[in-house]
Amino acid sequence: MSDLADAIPEDSAMTGADLQAAHAARGFMPHAEGLLLHRAALAAGGGPMLEIGGYCGKSAVYLGSAARHRGGVLFSVDHHRGSEENQPGELYCDSAVVDVQTGKVDSLPHFRRTIEETGLEAWVVAVVGSSPLVASHWCTPLSLLFIDGGHTEEAAHADYAGFVPHLDGSGWLLIHDVFGDPADGGQAPFHVYCRALEEGFRDVAAEGSLRVLRR
Ligand SMILES: C[S@@+](CC[C@H](N)C(=O)[O-])C[C@H]1O[C@@H](n2cnc3c(N)ncnc32)[C@H](O)[C@@H]1O
Repeated sequence: MSDLADAIPEDSAMTGADLQAAHAARGFMPHAEGLLLHRAALAAGGGPMLEIGGYCGKSAVYLGSAARHRGGVLFSVDHHRGSEENQPGELYCDSAVVDVQTGKVDSLPHFRRTIEETGLEAWVVAVVGSSPLVASHWCTPLSLLFIDGGHTEEAAHADYAGFVPHLDGSGWLLIHDVFGDPADGGQAPFHVYCRALEEGFRDVAAEGSLRVLRR
């Protein structure tokens, strides 16, 4: 990893309540990876941050807690209809996140409750919609971009192409579910990670399947 890793603080600024909320929230963010997400957000230094893939708010607690500490804001983009693997009958479907009336995935009420219960509503803004649509209207420069949305090749590359142009020159790019070995998981986030390296990003830190990069 590069010397840029020195910019990431060793310590977390999460309160006990934040840690409890992150632990309790439904989602797909192991704690050690969440802590690196949080520490990278502290290093990003108080500007606007954006995540793609808010789901039930787990990663947003780690990032939002840093925003509260540093005075920034997190925009959390998600259509809240779930990715392919979250749909009813699929491997990563949580029946508690399926609306009983419509039979559709709806993670928005869970996201909202997580953020409300953590007291992070002043630092975390839910942007409900498809990420390419949001990206096509986005104008705000970002200090940190966290990509954890759809994991098809098309979706993951669209997220990268849509939002990386809005990342500050020295901004932080974080990509989740990066598995170099296909036996460990889908390859689209890994391909996006390789694309980022080819396009001038450098590895700063890693934890599990989370990669932290910077130009
Ligand atoms: C892996 S989950 C995110 C997990 C979350 N970061 C956590 O900490 O638990 C992926 C999320 O991306 C969302 N998603 C997938 N494709 C999307 C798209 N094109 N636009 C917006 N959201 C999308 C899904 O609705 C789902 O909630």
